[in-house]
Amino acid sequence: MEAIILAGGFGTRLRPLTYTKAKSLLPILNKPMIFHLIETLPDEVNKVVLAVNYRKDQIEKYFKENDCGKETIVNDEPKPLGTGGATKFAERHITGRFLVLNADVICSLNLSEMIKIHKKNNAMATISLWPVENVSEFGVVDVKEDGNIVGFVEKPKPEDAPSEFINAGAYCLEPEVLDYIETGRLISMEKEIFPKIIKDTGRFFGFKFTGHWMDIGRISSYLEVHRFLMREKNIQNFQGENNSINGFLKQSCIGNNVSIGKNSNVESSVVYDNAIIGENVNLSGCVIGENSKVSNFSNLKDTILGDNETLEEETSLDNKAVWTQPKPEGYPDKQIGNPIEK
Ligand code: GDD
Ligand code: MG
Repeated sequence: MEAIILAGGFGTRLRPLTYTKAKSLLPILNKPMIFHLIETLPDEVNKVVLAVNYRKDQIEKYFKENDCGKETIVNDEPKPLGTGGATKFAERHITGRFLVLNADVICSLNLSEMIKIHKKNNAMATISLWPVENVSEFGVVDVKEDGNIVGFVEKPKPEDAPSEFINAGAYCLEPEVLDYIETGRLISMEKEIFPKIIKDTGRFFGFKFTGHWMDIGRISSYLEVHRFLMREKNIQNFQGENNSINGFLKQSCIGNNVSIGKNSNVESSVVYDNAIIGENVNLSGCVIGENSKVSNFSNLKDTILGDNETLEEETSLDNKAVWTQPKPEGYPDKQIGNPIEK
């Protein structure tokens, strides 16, 4: 069975980190988020099709150098095709019933169980469901007691949301679903395809699960998932190798070859490889990019420093994203495909 992982988004809400890195390769506890996802795939999935475009070279390189235990195919779209278009573009690799997974979700979903329920219901499509309060940022379903989904609205206004259950970003699909998707254009699975399947077949089901679910769409959820996983592992901090830590860490994740100077406090933050944090620095709720430097006596709160940036001594920043280099060519100003309508 194949699993298509949708990993071609720009990750605009995670910039400036995504100016230099593919969103799916952003590390969570020093391991790319897509790797966490692949670890949750059941044994019956033997092939992973990585649906990519933006920063596909990085993804290709990563999977060449790191074995994820499954056959992986990098399926490079000529241009962003959206969640539906990217799925259609992977059609030649699909041999039967298949999975489609958003690359930016960390959760406790048991995919084997979902596949079982899909078969039991004789469904055309089964999607994972999770309850949230802020439904407007997600796809929302109208779901019956028996799991049958009779309506799907992508990013509705709160008053138009049919329930509190959202599309949690994992689908089990019959190959016939591919016949609903046109070739070669930007198509949103959520906006165009799901409503059609619901209407035409009535065989569209939801699978609710318990445990945890996080969409790593924003910096706040990116930091939150670190805190959550550290709590789950019962550890105070997480660290890679070759670090020189002379300050204090609290609920933070540190990459490799990082140096943290005397009297510095790093709290609820993520520091990438080769970063240099000077002396008497305070970081709280920050992400510090690879090869970046925060000089002595700086205070940063809720601030993101992109890769290869340097802050001079005594810099004070609150709730800022620092990026002084040119933006990558073609990088959009806002989310494409499924934006939240304002
Ligand atoms: N290959 C490819 N091509 N992948 C894409 C493209 C594309 O053009 N556009 C988006 N993706 C990937 C993203 O990288 C991400 O992994 C996934 O598709 C979903 O896109 P997002 O841009 O992250 O969408 P979202 O978070 O706003 O909403 C989606 O996820 C929610 C759950 O997290 C929707 O599926 C919602 O319905 C859902 O509730
Ligand atoms: Mg997302």
